[in-house]
Amino acid sequence: MKPNTELDINSYIHPQSNLTAQEKLGPMIMTRGEGVHVFDDQENKYLDSVSGLWCVTLGYNNQAIKDAATRQLDQLPFFQTFANKSNNPTIELAAKLLEIAPVPMSKVMFQNSGSEAVDTAIKLVWYYQNARGKSQKKKIISRHGSYHGTTIAAASLTGLPTMHAQFDLPIEGILHTDNPNYYRFSEKDETEIEFASRCIKNLEKLILHEGPETIGAFFAEPVMGTGGVIVPPETYFEKLQVILKKYDILLIADEVICGFGRTGNYWGCETYNIKPDMIACAKGLSSAYLPISALLVSDEIYQTMKKGSDKVGIFGHGYTYSGHPACAAVALETLNQYYELDTLNNIRKVSPSFQKGLRQFKNHPLVGDVRGVGLMVSIEIVKDKKTKESFDPALMIGRKIEDAALSHGLILRALGNNLVFAPPFIITQSEITKIIEIVGLALDEVHNWYEGNS
Ligand SMILES: Cc1ncc(COP(=O)(O)O)c(C=O)c1O
Repeated sequence: MKPNTELDINSYIHPQSNLTAQEKLGPMIMTRGEGVHVFDDQENKYLDSVSGLWCVTLGYNNQAIKDAATRQLDQLPFFQTFANKSNNPTIELAAKLLEIAPVPMSKVMFQNSGSEAVDTAIKLVWYYQNARGKSQKKKIISRHGSYHGTTIAAASLTGLPTMHAQFDLPIEGILHTDNPNYYRFSEKDETEIEFASRCIKNLEKLILHEGPETIGAFFAEPVMGTGGVIVPPETYFEKLQVILKKYDILLIADEVICGFGRTGNYWGCETYNIKPDMIACAKGLSSAYLPISALLVSDEIYQTMKKGSDKVGIFGHGYTYSGHPACAAVALETLNQYYELDTLNNIRKVSPSFQKGLRQFKNHPLVGDVRGVGLMVSIEIVKDKKTKESFDPALMIGRKIEDAALSHGLILRALGNNLVFAPPFIITQSEITKIIEIVGLALDEVHNWYEGNS
C-alpha cells in the first residue's frame, strides 16, 4: 500500500462517500493538472469531463489566475470586510458582478461556498420578511431532486433523501414541490407543456394549502445539476414566475452550477428567462482555484435590509472570509479570462456536437434517457428501456461504468443511475470526440458484463 493511501484511510473522512467502502477501496490521489486533464500519483492521465465538481471551468493550469492569486497574496493576503473595512479586489469584484448580472441587482455579499451563499439567501429571506413587517411569511419551497448544498439550511432545501436521512433534516419551514423531470414523472401522452402546467398547479395547491401569507421564497437551479441534469420542461419557468408573483413569493436562482456559461448563456437565468430577486453563484466564479461564492440581491431587498439593520443596530451576518482579497482577486481574473478567452463562444461552438454525440447513446441497451443543455449532460441508465425500471442500487451499475471509463482515461461522474458530464469551458472538439468514444466503450463493456452475469 502506498504511504498516503494508508494515511488517507486512517485520517480523512471523505464527503459524499460510503465510509466503509472508502476504507476498503482507499483514495484516488491526484497530483497535478494540465488543461482539461489531471494526473494521478502513478502519472496516469485522465480527461476530466466533469470539471472537478462542475467547477474547474478554465481547466487546471490557467497561468493568469495563478498569477492573480500570488500577486494578491504578496500584497495583502487578508483583510476583513466587517465593520466598514474593505479591500480593493472585493470592491471591484462586487461591482463587476453587478455589471454582468442577468437582471438589475443592487448589492453583493461574499461567502466561501455555494452552501453558504444559499444559507445566506435563506437568512436574507427571513430578515427581509421581518423588516417589511411580514413576519409570518417565512416558509421556503424548493423541488424534490434539487441540490442546494449541505449546511443545515441548504441541505434542508436540497431535495435528495440521502442528504436528510440520519441528520434530522429538513428543518421546519422548508417544503418541497414536484421534481420537473419529464422523463421520470410525466404521464402517458402528456406533453412537456402539459407536464409543466401540472407541476405548477401542484405548486399552487401547496401554496394555498400552507397559506400564501406563510410562504416567503422559492429556490430553483435553472437546470437541476446533481439531481441528474434536469432541464426544465417547456414553459416551466414562465408559469412558475406568474404564480410566485401572484402570491408575493421571492424567487432565488441558484446559479452555482449554471452560472458563467454552462447552459450556453452567461447565466442559466438568461437561458430560461428567469427574473430572480437574488442570485447565488460559486464554482465557476473562481474556476475553483480558490473558494468563493457570491449572493446578489435586488434593490427592493437591499433597501428593506437597511431598515432591518437600522432597527437592530447592525446587519448581524457575515463570515471571517467574506470578501477574502486573494479569493476576490482570483474571481476577478477568472471573469476576465472568460472575456479574454471568449469561453462563451467556445461553449456555443462545441456544445452542439457534445450534445449530439452523447445523445446518440439513447439507442444503447443500458440507456433510458439523455438530456442536457450547453456543456452539461446526463445519461440515465435503466434496466428496462420500456418500463424505465432502474437497476438494483446494490449492483452499482453507474459506478461500474464510471470505473470502466476511468480505465480508458476518462473521468465522468455517476450520481446513482445518472452519468453526468460538465467539461471545462475551454474543451476542444477533439477532446469532446474522445469523451464520446470512451463513453461508448464503457457502456459496451458494462453491458457485456451484465449480459454475461444475469
Ligand atoms: C446548485 C448548487 N447549489 C449549491 C451547491 C453547494 O455548493 P458547495 O458545495 O460549494 O457548498 C452546489 C454544489 O454542488 C450546487 O450544485
